[in-house]
Amino acid sequence: MQIISTIQQLRDRLKAEPSVAFVPTMGNLHQGHLALVRQAREHGRCVVVSIFVNPLQFGPNEDFAKYPCTFEQDCAKLEGLAEVVFAPTVEALYPEPQQVFVEPPPVASELCGAFRPGHFRGVATVVLKLFNIVRPQVAVFGKKDYQQMQVIRTMVRQLNLPLEIVAGETLRAEDGLALSSRNGYLSAAERAEAVRLYRNLVQISESIVAGGRDVAALERAAVADLENHGWRVDYVSVRNAATLLPAAPGVAGLVVLAAAWLGKTRLIDNVEVCFSADKGL
Ligand code: PAF
Repeated sequence: MQIISTIQQLRDRLKAEPSVAFVPTMGNLHQGHLALVRQAREHGRCVVVSIFVNPLQFGPNEDFAKYPCTFEQDCAKLEGLAEVVFAPTVEALYPEPQQVFVEPPPVASELCGAFRPGHFRGVATVVLKLFNIVRPQVAVFGKKDYQQMQVIRTMVRQLNLPLEIVAGETLRAEDGLALSSRNGYLSAAERAEAVRLYRNLVQISESIVAGGRDVAALERAAVADLENHGWRVDYVSVRNAATLLPAAPGVAGLVVLAAAWLGKTRLIDNVEVCFSADKGL
């Protein structure tokens, strides 16, 4: 496995590669990331993983400065799974102040975007830069960041980028908590409580599958349960899984998404609702 930090070196290394599969990350890798990397292997002879904490996608009061940097451990985990780790410096990726941005679709201002203004603009911009540098045929994005994945899918479709986006399933701990780099911020008591977010999403999904149609009431009940247990809820929302627009009558492909704070840690999660088209909302 090669570790490369400059754009030119990466381009030289990949020049002769017939098929490249790419997994962009911000490091602090856990089994969820490694599953995406294994999935990438099914789509490309050369698997490239980027490790880059992108300042553009963090707001002024967010955790950019304290985002965990575990580069050596990350590389050890990737040994045998990836051919190349691309780990540019901020100066290499942004040699001059970035003035050209990707304007993400309007839905990027809802859900997490409503609480993190500019976040998806920063994500879409760095991902487009990385796509232009790595030039993969396939890129794998985790469903854990469902809104991010759909924003990137829309960007690829509408800007006619020549690659396929593949979705990776969310990996969960035994109790159901979605694996996330931010779980490391939780105290032992918070960690025990954290699974409540997932349980509420499953509860909403099961209620819809069982015939529940008052989506707003289901969302309110989940918010109340979380708040009663000390959470500060940003949103719990049932959406069209493809467009992320609010769930409307007749739609069968749904996803329940949520973001909420446990102490100083913001957790996000989502659950796709599986029911047949004739039983749509
Ligand atoms: O999901 C992430 O880790 C980041 O948002 C990404 C896609 C690597 C862009 O910085």
